[in-house]
Amino acid sequence: MRTQVAIVGAGPAGLLLSHLLRLQGIHSVVIETRSRDYCENRVRAGVLEQGTVDTLNEAGLGERMQREGLLHHGIELLFERRRHRIDMSELTGGRAITVYGQHEVVRDLIAAAQQHDHTLFFDVADVSLHDLKTDHPTVLFTHAGVENRIDCDYVAGCDGFHGISRGAIPADVLRTYERVYPYAWLGILADAPPSADELVYAHHERGFALFSMRSPSVTRLYLQCQPDENLAEWSDDRVWDELFTRFENDQGWLPARGPITQKSVTPMRSFVTEPMQYGRLFLAGDAAHIVPPTGAKGMNLAVADVRTLSKALAARYRDAREDLLDGYSTHCLERVWRAEHFSYFMTNMLHPSFDETPFVNRLKMSELKYVSSSQAAARSLAENYVGLPFAA
Ligand code: FAD
Ligand code: DHB
Repeated sequence: MRTQVAIVGAGPAGLLLSHLLRLQGIHSVVIETRSRDYCENRVRAGVLEQGTVDTLNEAGLGERMQREGLLHHGIELLFERRRHRIDMSELTGGRAITVYGQHEVVRDLIAAAQQHDHTLFFDVADVSLHDLKTDHPTVLFTHAGVENRIDCDYVAGCDGFHGISRGAIPADVLRTYERVYPYAWLGILADAPPSADELVYAHHERGFALFSMRSPSVTRLYLQCQPDENLAEWSDDRVWDELFTRFENDQGWLPARGPITQKSVTPMRSFVTEPMQYGRLFLAGDAAHIVPPTGAKGMNLAVADVRTLSKALAARYRDAREDLLDGYSTHCLERVWRAEHFSYFMTNMLHPSFDETPFVNRLKMSELKYVSSSQAAARSLAENYVGLPFAA
């Protein structure tokens, strides 16, 4: 088959890119190794920055998000048994975040693709990229046992951290920067109404805990754990006991308890690939960079990348301009590194360290007190958390 842009991966990056390209009259084909059902039910991110919400609304994808998403104007930090609110909207001239599950965004994007008869293959295998340094790259894959070939002008590698696109760039061209953290998150979904209106990030001597939500009847909670934590050792009672211990506070607030419907362990990693392009291949989202989840930046970065890439491809097709495509990597990496630093900062501050000297944990406590008491420090946290505005 023949298309203008072959897109590898149907996560938020790949699906949104194909939608934004269609709005510009550019044809694309999306291929995905997993099933549609798997993609639509994979529980991951929940926090959308203001710029992500604006991008989805402008692209005509915001209808259900407007109705079901939860608008939050602040977050809370809990340490030394006290809750401290950071009023993000007041500190950022009215910007806010929206809590709306990543899989809901994916469902909205797949529904839009189907509505417009978009070519979207699920359950593909044996994906490989070829002739990326020529002006006629190809993508090979099998689908339902049949070998297929896509002839295209450009390839977008949106296939996440474990995809194959990044590996198609020769090792001597790629530079990677990485940090692996000595802890992970055990996450649960519970059928329980959220007992607070905003997210609570808790630093406790036994470890970090996060209170979040998905809807007026579903609570999302995370606990700092070991990277090799065995989920089988975490009965529902043990999870709740540990959560209640870490959220203990003098105001008597606690998450509401309810049946646990999902449990998983997420490792924590910071990772950046430079450059994010090679010949006619452009990497976007987790294929190019990973952040630890503490800053809630991963999906938002994926959206920012494909927003930039769609504009660059539109300039190429509409005005025969190559400069935006040439500058894609440099442009994206500015935002990527800001988010990398913010995620690293939030992660270090909020997770007690069990293998460093007590000195390090005293520094973390000092930082928490500073961002909770200084307006200048709180503003810096808030403007990064709601997301820096996109350049015009
Ligand atoms: P992915 O979502 O990973 O999509 C890549 C797709 O490519 C997948 O569907 C995969 O199956 C497919 N694929 C892989 N290999 C191939 C192949 N060879 N061929 C074809 N397809 C392939 N981010 C936030 O912004 N806010 C948050 O609050 C937040 N919280 C998080 C909490 C958790 C527990 C986790 C795990 C992540 C969180 N993130 C958060 C990060 C966010 O989920 C990711 O950054 C986001 O999914 C990146 O989107 P993507 O499209 O780049 O990659
Ligand atoms: C959620 C995930 C995050 O990583 C975060 O920082 C805040 C909320 C969530 O899944 O709701």
